[in-house]
Amino acid sequence: MPEWLKDAVFYEIYPQSFYDSNNDGIGDLQGIIDKLDYIKDLGCNALWINPCFDSPFLDGGYDVRDYKKVAPRYGTNETLVNLFEEAHKRGIKVLLDLVPGHTSDQHPWFLESKKAEHNMYSDRYVWTTHAFEGIGGHPYISGMSERAGAYMLNFFASQPALNYGWLNRTEHWQSAVDSEEAIATREAIKDVMRFWMDLGCDGYRVDMADSLVKNDDENKSATAKIWRNVREMMDRDYPECALVSEWSNPCQAINGGGFHMDFYLDHHYNGYNTLLRDYETEGGDHSFFLKEGHGDIMRFLDDYLPKYEATKNNGYIAMFTCNHDTPRLARTLDERELKLAYAFILTMPGVPFVYYGDEIGMKYLDVKTKEGGYQRTGSRTPMQWDETKNKGFSQADEIYLPVDKEGPSVKTQMEDPDSLYSAVKEIIALKHRYADLLADVSFKVIYAEKGKYPFVYQRGNMILAVNPSENETETVNPLFSDTQIIFHIGEAEIGNDKLKMHPQSFVALK
Ligand code: GLC
Ligand code: CA
Repeated sequence: MPEWLKDAVFYEIYPQSFYDSNNDGIGDLQGIIDKLDYIKDLGCNALWINPCFDSPFLDGGYDVRDYKKVAPRYGTNETLVNLFEEAHKRGIKVLLDLVPGHTSDQHPWFLESKKAEHNMYSDRYVWTTHAFEGIGGHPYISGMSERAGAYMLNFFASQPALNYGWLNRTEHWQSAVDSEEAIATREAIKDVMRFWMDLGCDGYRVDMADSLVKNDDENKSATAKIWRNVREMMDRDYPECALVSEWSNPCQAINGGGFHMDFYLDHHYNGYNTLLRDYETEGGDHSFFLKEGHGDIMRFLDDYLPKYEATKNNGYIAMFTCNHDTPRLARTLDERELKLAYAFILTMPGVPFVYYGDEIGMKYLDVKTKEGGYQRTGSRTPMQWDETKNKGFSQADEIYLPVDKEGPSVKTQMEDPDSLYSAVKEIIALKHRYADLLADVSFKVIYAEKGKYPFVYQRGNMILAVNPSENETETVNPLFSDTQIIFHIGEAEIGNDKLKMHPQSFVALK
């Protein structure tokens, strides 16, 4: 387990929308380099950069055409290596995005695989043996190649599934998980991983990490086995590099697959969603962080705690403010509500991720789909740096996606000590200042009751409490005696064993 993860606060960057250094209208790697001081100043000490590799961009770059080449629109391989170096100089680690489940249908492996003549890539992807034979229960495409057969899709139509074999085989064309071709795919992906780690990257966020083996069992044990094999390579050759999964099942990903951490995604009705979004609950939004105070912390804890308990000795749950696939929290939470939500996210155990622009409360915009974004596009708009042209994102007349002209900017938020940005910066500083808030330090629920406020929890020797509701709360607990408020958002009072919290407040006690 890389030691640095304990104190890591990640910043996720969607490169096309972060900063355009050469004014061609699209963000680029030099733009990230130019903004490293900003990221460091915010307190983040690690980056996750969404795919920046050569791609036809039918899925924002998750359709990789060449794993070993930076997309020309973002720069060159040298720019990326330079980014690693500049980041490292500032104590910032860099994770790239690994897409192991599929490639673009323009990837040279797939172009070979499509050919009628058998070749070394014929079995790199999942194919049936007849053009008229489909793949039951899975999306597939037929009739688009010389090769007789249908190929399986892993996501969009442009993303054929790489072949890692099938655990429960029912058809003769399904490779076994230990077949030569399945092992070859795994080794090819490990080769890609080594390529960038040898050049200085600090590990990977792994896209759809659970999607490798088809007809896997309910524990995804065959897919997990592949990741344990990858982890062995990491432990042996890259012990300082980190692996984080898009799996959202920490027991499978961490305990089974050997991932250092797993994202807690906003799946419908799960703990994260009911805590922060909860759009689909009957009767409207009951997020715990809305000031209306109709949320229920237990809906989060019932889902989260068993996962936390089962994995806390093996790895970390990664909580995020949002990501490139999900609506920004500012869609339904206002600035004050966001401050409290972020205070919570940043002080929970595990490793937090801040999505670019969430620190200033960038809005979820109603914009036309771009590069396969569909409704996700609204969370992918250009970073709002200042009040100049295109909010300082680019000097070009035409830019990648419309910028939120009316929205907040880094510049105005930095000037205001009460802004969301200032709060985020203070909370991150608090996290770095106290060892109690390291990723692996204990977490205990002190007060949580169905439908009630506040939520009080303990990390190491620190007590944290959050009352997002409009009502004042009073909580009694002997643990509060002899503590002092070391950090607060809103007001709170402490007297002997009583904690009185004013509406919409957060405190840290020690
Ligand atoms: C992951 C990515 C998403 C992408 C999909 C297919 O969910 O986060 O953006 O479209 O995988 O690669
Ligand atoms: Ca550019």
